[in-house]
Amino acid sequence: MQEELARLQATALADLAAVADAPALEAWRVKYLGRKGALANAMKVLATLPREARPAYGQAANQVKAALEAAFLERQEALQRLALEAELTAGAVDVTLPGRSPALGRLHITTQTLRQIYTIFAEMGFQVYDAPDVETDEYNFGLLNMPPYHPARDMWDTFWVSQDGGGQVEAAQPPGPTTEGSSLLVMRTHTSPGQIRVMRERYPEPIRVILPGKCYRYEQITARSEHQFYQVEGLAVGRRIRMSDLIGVLQEFARRMYGAKRRLRVRGSYFPFTEPSIEADIDCILCAGAGCPVCKHTGWLEIAGAGMVHPVVLRNGGYDPDVYSGFAFGLGVERPAMLKYRIGDIRLFYGNDLRFLRQFA
Ligand code: PHE
Repeated sequence: MQEELARLQATALADLAAVADAPALEAWRVKYLGRKGALANAMKVLATLPREARPAYGQAANQVKAALEAAFLERQEALQRLALEAELTAGAVDVTLPGRSPALGRLHITTQTLRQIYTIFAEMGFQVYDAPDVETDEYNFGLLNMPPYHPARDMWDTFWVSQDGGGQVEAAQPPGPTTEGSSLLVMRTHTSPGQIRVMRERYPEPIRVILPGKCYRYEQITARSEHQFYQVEGLAVGRRIRMSDLIGVLQEFARRMYGAKRRLRVRGSYFPFTEPSIEADIDCILCAGAGCPVCKHTGWLEIAGAGMVHPVVLRNGGYDPDVYSGFAFGLGVERPAMLKYRIGDIRLFYGNDLRFLRQFA
C-alpha cells in the first residue's frame, strides 16, 4: 500500500515541476492537497486496512502530505520571485539614454522692453501705476480737456464698448446726440486717462509716476500699425515743475535706453491735455543722424508725445494750477523695440509665432 503513496508523491512532484503560473499552482493544490484531492482519497483507504497496518500507512501518508505542502510553498515562492523579476526587466529604464531637455519659456519682447523702461524710470524716482484698459468716455477724453464734439477726439480712432449689447467691443460710431454722455465706455485709446486717476488718488502730494499699459485703436492693421499696442505714460506734478525738467527726464531716458551718445530734439506739437505740447525725437540709432531708410532720411526718430499738463487737466485732477504745475509724456513701446532689434513688422509682436518670440531670449 505504501508504494501507492510513494507513487502519488512522485506524480505530484513531477506535476508540480511543470507548474508555470499562479492559476496552475492553485489547480495543482486542489488536485493533490484539496479536501477532495488525491491525498484525501488516499487517507480514506486507511479505514479499509487491517488494524495493525494502519499506523504505518497513516504515518507514511502524513509524510507525503508534509512533503507535498513543503514543495507547494517552495514552488509558490519561486513563482513569485520569477514574476517580480519579469516585471522588473519589463519596466527597466535605460539610464544611459540622453535626457530630453524641457522647453524653457521666456519673456515676451514687449515685457522685456517694458522692464527696461521701468528700471530706468525707477532710478529717476518714478513709481509704476496701473490704470484700467476699459475707460469711460469722460476719463479717456472729457477730463483730458476734450468735451463731446471736440475735434481733437479725431486724433484717436476709438473702439466703443456697447453697454446694451453685453459689453461687446464695437468699432461703432462715436456718440451722437442721443447716445452722448460721459458714462459711455471705451477701450482706452491712450494711457493718458491714468493721469486723472493718479492725481485724484494722490492729491495733494507731489507725483512722479509712470503708467504702462495696452491701448486700443480702431485702425487698419499693417506692418506699421496694430490695433493693440503698449504705451508708457509719465506724469510729474509738483510746485515748481518746468519744461526743462521734462526735457531733462526724456534726455536721460533716451541715453539710458538707446545709448549714452543719444541726442534729443523737441518740436512744438499739439495735444488737448498739455500746454505747451511737444514731440521728442532722438537722433537715429542706426545712422546717428546721417540719414538712412529707418529714419526715412531725416536723421531723427520720434519717441514721445509730451508737454506741460494743461491747467484744465490739473484742475480736473484736483490740483490748483495756480499752485501746481506738471509734465506728462507718452512713450511708445513696440516701435522703439522694432528699431532696436530691427523688426520690420509690428504684427509679429502679437502673432504668437514661436519662431519670432524665441529670438528674444
Ligand atoms: N496720449 C498721447 C497719445 O497717445 C501722448 C501724450 C501723452 C501726449 C502725454 C502728451 C502727454 O498720442
